Amino acid sequence: MGFTRLLTSLLAISGSVLAQSSTSYTDPDNGITFQGYTDTTTNVTYGFVFPSGSDSDDEFIGEIISPVANQWVGICLGGTMLDNLLLVTWPYGDSVVYSPRYATSYSLPALYAGPTITALPSTTVNDTYWKFVYRCQNCTTWTGGSIDLTSTNSTLAWALSTVAVDDPSDPDSAFAKHTDGSCHCNPFRSSAYQCSHRWCILRELLRCPERVLL
Ligand code: HEM
Repeated sequence: MGFTRLLTSLLAISGSVLAQSSTSYTDPDNGITFQGYTDTTTNVTYGFVFPSGSDSDDEFIGEIISPVANQWVGICLGGTMLDNLLLVTWPYGDSVVYSPRYATSYSLPALYAGPTITALPSTTVNDTYWKFVYRCQNCTTWTGGSIDLTSTNSTLAWALSTVAVDDPSDPDSAFAKHTDGSCHCNPFRSSAYQCSHRWCILRELLRCPERVLL
């Protein structure tokens, strides 16, 4: 599939038409209501709880749920690979490794300092799928870009691979180019559900069985 699908999606976005849209769902494993979508080809779900565009929060809660066939899954918070914050994740044993990256060319993205990422309870790996539930602080702006939470046109892109990273224990591991990818238009503001500020995120987390305190 590769980037035929991805480039088609990009073209669709430039034409302001995109079939895929995000919906609100509540993950029964953690009680958090996310705005997200599931790619029906790769069966990966991407969920988000963003602050409103009217406050200064620089963080969000997210989750990625993937079948084990996908050896790494990444998101581009600015909607494209280059000059944007990328969050790449992969399973390792019974945990999930996360790796913020940044690319200025179409080659292996470098590790990127800045974001503080915390794996949250309900992160899990089993025989059929892995799930990464995370808090991403200092994640809405990066060198040369940001998520425009006030925009109805913000885009999110994802890429993944069925080929494992070279050293899954190492967040700085090398890996080969994606085997699939696509774009999704504005999972941030198209929903009825908006989490307005930090207290709302806290409330969501406190609904977790594990009672996470930030
Ligand atoms: C070794 C690692 C990587 C290599 C060599 C690589 C290479 C490339 C290349 C050559 C393209 C242009 C289209 C094509 O030829 O298929 C591309 C596009 C793209 N890549 Fe990567 N990539 C890598 C990692 C990543 C990661 C980690 C992400 C996301 C987290 C990502 C997201 C994208 C996206 C969204 C596009 C679509 C076009 C664009 O955004 O500019 N890539 N990549």
